[in-house]
Amino acid sequence: MKSQPITPEHMINTRREFIRKAVQAGLLSCLPLASVSAASKLKITDEAKATRYNNYYEFSTNKKFVHIIAKDFKPEPWTLSIEGLVDNPLSISLASLPQAATHILRFRCIEGWSMIVPWQGFELAKLLELAKPTSAAKYVRFESIKRPSEMIGQRRNTLPWPYSEGLRLDEAMHPLTLIANGMYGKPLPNQNGAPLRLIVPWKYGFKSIKAIAKIELVAEQPQTTWNSVAPAEYGFYANVNPEVPHPRWSQRREVPLGELKKVRTLPFNGYEDQVAHLYKGMDLSKHF
Ligand code: MTE
Repeated sequence: MKSQPITPEHMINTRREFIRKAVQAGLLSCLPLASVSAASKLKITDEAKATRYNNYYEFSTNKKFVHIIAKDFKPEPWTLSIEGLVDNPLSISLASLPQAATHILRFRCIEGWSMIVPWQGFELAKLLELAKPTSAAKYVRFESIKRPSEMIGQRRNTLPWPYSEGLRLDEAMHPLTLIANGMYGKPLPNQNGAPLRLIVPWKYGFKSIKAIAKIELVAEQPQTTWNSVAPAEYGFYANVNPEVPHPRWSQRREVPLGELKKVRTLPFNGYEDQVAHLYKGMDLSKHF
């Protein structure tokens, strides 16, 4: 990507060696090594940009106002339920969640803008393993909170509420699929999905559902919000793919938030090596 500073190979190796030694010495134990070394080449988006330009229809369709309108939303107390085809249904409070670490990841919206954010979060797989999906579970369905008293956008029928999303079980179990509860070293701001949101960095941003209240293991591909509203525009898979244009937005390029120049969009948003195997044998122009 053009916007990234190019680091000489020998410096990357020196830094990797330094990080490896620091991890061995217990100095960086909260940062997974893979995230640190891969992320060292990424230019992190200004916090003010990432937290003041939000898609969150429960509050407003105007991205610039969401952070103001969402101020009075109360993300605590909160209970997340994990139910459906599981041996061990759970109802978890925020205090009992798995331990979070920092993950610096690209995020690409289908509207053609992108950001690079240090999320605090943990692998969704850790939660799912606690709930023990049965062998009949093939997909995971996510549901946001419905609270029109605090979410004024839900008083209108802009979308069917609550917002919902879905993943295939193997996508949900992939180590890049996170539940985030913080960003930039702070608790997740309301406008970015407090207290808990999904992050699936190789998919368009609408898959990364905010304010998750319920996770359900199911046998069939679930109905999801944008896919049910406009199936020709928003596929269920929604893997970032510069070759498949959206009817209104070519997906070849993107504008990083805070920058003027567009940069090339990468297949699977730059995570091709990690995730392409999940789609072997599938025609991704049909399963878009
Ligand atoms: N989750 C809910 N519940 N409601 C929404 O409107 N918008 C989605 C996604 N998650 C949305 C949501 C879209 S379209 C995008 S691009 C991202 O959130 C934006 O996340 P951000 O505000 O942290 O950039």
